[in-house]
Amino acid sequence: MSSVVELSVVVPTFNEQPNVQALVARLEQCLRGVRWEVIFVDDDSPDGTAAAVRTLAQADARVRLVHRIHRRGLSSACIEGMLASTAPFVAVMDADLQHDERLLPQMLSTLRAEDLEIVVGSRHVEGGSIGDWGSERELASRFATRLSGLVLKADLKDPMSGFFLLRRALIDEVVHDLSAIGFKILLDIFVTAGRPLRFRELPYEFRLRHAGDSKLDNVVAWQYIAMLLDKSVGRYVPVRFIAFASIGGLGVFVHMAVLWLVFRGLEETFIVGQTVATLVAMTFNFFLNNWFTYRDRRLRGWGLLRGWVSFTLACSLGAVANVGIATYLFNVSPTGGPWWVLSATAGIIVGAVWNYAVTSVYTWNQPKAVTAGR
Ligand code: GDD
Ligand code: MN
Repeated sequence: MSSVVELSVVVPTFNEQPNVQALVARLEQCLRGVRWEVIFVDDDSPDGTAAAVRTLAQADARVRLVHRIHRRGLSSACIEGMLASTAPFVAVMDADLQHDERLLPQMLSTLRAEDLEIVVGSRHVEGGSIGDWGSERELASRFATRLSGLVLKADLKDPMSGFFLLRRALIDEVVHDLSAIGFKILLDIFVTAGRPLRFRELPYEFRLRHAGDSKLDNVVAWQYIAMLLDKSVGRYVPVRFIAFASIGGLGVFVHMAVLWLVFRGLEETFIVGQTVATLVAMTFNFFLNNWFTYRDRRLRGWGLLRGWVSFTLACSLGAVANVGIATYLFNVSPTGGPWWVLSATAGIIVGAVWNYAVTSVYTWNQPKAVTAGR
């Protein structure tokens, strides 16, 4: 029998060390008769997931590892796992045993028999269920599913699923245009294809997490909104810029609050109040952008200090450009009318674009980001 791989199972991991061995054992059990491999894509988990996978790989050549450094993200991990595979069929599933691996053979045979492009493990078709979810999580999931209707044309009952199997041709078709933001890689694939896909949903029961904790948090929810934006207005404006500019808008409120406190409250001079307010607002913006806009390349430790310095310098130049351009435009425009507002707006736009462009290169660049195959 040829040893060529037919099915690659891509498994994104972050702190899943206690689960990987059990998952491989279960794949081994249920995929008899299929020439499979499993590709773990680990974002340098502090709990030593990558080392655990390497140990398994020493005993079984079907186990592979993509180890990413200075990177985070479920969707982007799945994409890199798919690209590390050369098999004609690729499945994606979680490492925590919540997805029922026993569905895989049926997913593969259905895809082949019905000449489909993608088969989705679904909790929301007859026979499927979400298992023991808290009502809060259930509500959030239902709301997210409803929101997906803004960008999704297909009648997919479980677009939030992270469990699916697809053909290589479909990956090749969409891979250059995926948003790759956040958790919802399946939705990303469907929307990016932009045409009706031949798909089918097969029911399974969502199980309880085996060991460890869920990585789904508030930031993931915001990233979902970011992905929806990217899939709609992202053609015209980069969604990172939208996030950056919105945070800048919040910074204005922080600035005013601090100015009020220092200038009016503490009765310092205006220049002192203005200086303190500017520094506080910049610092506030820096941390918020680091936490959200650049979550996937978040700076830590000393990198934070270096990042803060470069961010402050860049934004100071941005402020000079803002004031300079606005003043110039105001001076050359006719007197009266709305010109003062338009001049100020032009200054703000130039300043914001400058700040965004410069900090994306000098503050949140990733000189050390590497990915390595097995
Ligand atoms: N490489 C990498 N990087 N893996 C990640 C990251 C990351 O930043 N964040 C999470 N993962 C991995 C986890 O280790 C796990 O294997 C899988 O992605 C899912 O993460 P969970 O934290 O277990 O998410 P969940 O159970 O709350 O949600 C999952 O199930 C939902 C229902 O199917 C996800 O698959 C959702 O997308 C899905 O909607
Ligand atoms: Mn999970």
